[in-house]
Amino acid sequence: MSVRPLIAGNWKMNGLAKESAAELSALISKANDQGEVGCDILICPPALLVSQMATLAEGSAVSIGAQDCHTQEKGAHTGDISAEMIADAGAGYAIAGHSERRTDHGESNEVVKMKAEAALRAGLIAIVCVGETLEERENGKTLDIISDQVKNSLPEGATAANTVIAYEPVWAIGTGKVPATSDVDEVHNHIRSDLKLLMKDAEGVRLLYGGSVKGSNAAELMAVENVNGALVGGASLKAEDFWPIVETSL
Ligand code: PGA
Repeated sequence: MSVRPLIAGNWKMNGLAKESAAELSALISKANDQGEVGCDILICPPALLVSQMATLAEGSAVSIGAQDCHTQEKGAHTGDISAEMIADAGAGYAIAGHSERRTDHGESNEVVKMKAEAALRAGLIAIVCVGETLEERENGKTLDIISDQVKNSLPEGATAANTVIAYEPVWAIGTGKVPATSDVDEVHNHIRSDLKLLMKDAEGVRLLYGGSVKGSNAAELMAVENVNGALVGGASLKAEDFWPIVETSL
């Protein structure tokens, strides 16, 4: 089954309005120069920039998403942002359960699942992140951990159209270390098999690889069976670094 790839940039807590607008504009113009693009392109800026970036990207090949959302639609949750607000700001996606959220904010699979369900409730596409720590990998627990995260973080009502899974080994994020393609292959096949037991159209779900993806390693990673795109941190901040990654999937 051919699955349209998704190349997603996660800007994390980086970028002020002016420079971010310049980078997004540069990315949009590269996409415009390309004409027809054969993949979906996404940028997830810091929450405060979602509205501005969504306005800038309107009508282009680049979609905008948020890096997180609250589980509830509204209410007494100081400092939080609901999925409905993200959709209202013009975004189409929300990441749920990035390892930095799981670690920095103690987000459990149960919370991640509720956040992904909130994203679906608001009509957003949820990108659910899973990944093992170095210790878990060294102890041979990778596949068990991934299965546990996939089963328990997958939102109720997940379909190939509304849910994306990103496999991001925690030890590969921001470190320059990348697993062997055979390891990526093993985990992605495993996730696909798990999904087949959990949902009907599992074959069509985009499975992204994330963790130190760069222009120099993207082609090799994107060629792995069951890798249907990338979730990119550091190398998504500059259009000139991100575009070569997008180009591997055009
Ligand atoms: P990185 O981050 O590309 O900087 O390793 C990936 C991510 O955390 O999504």
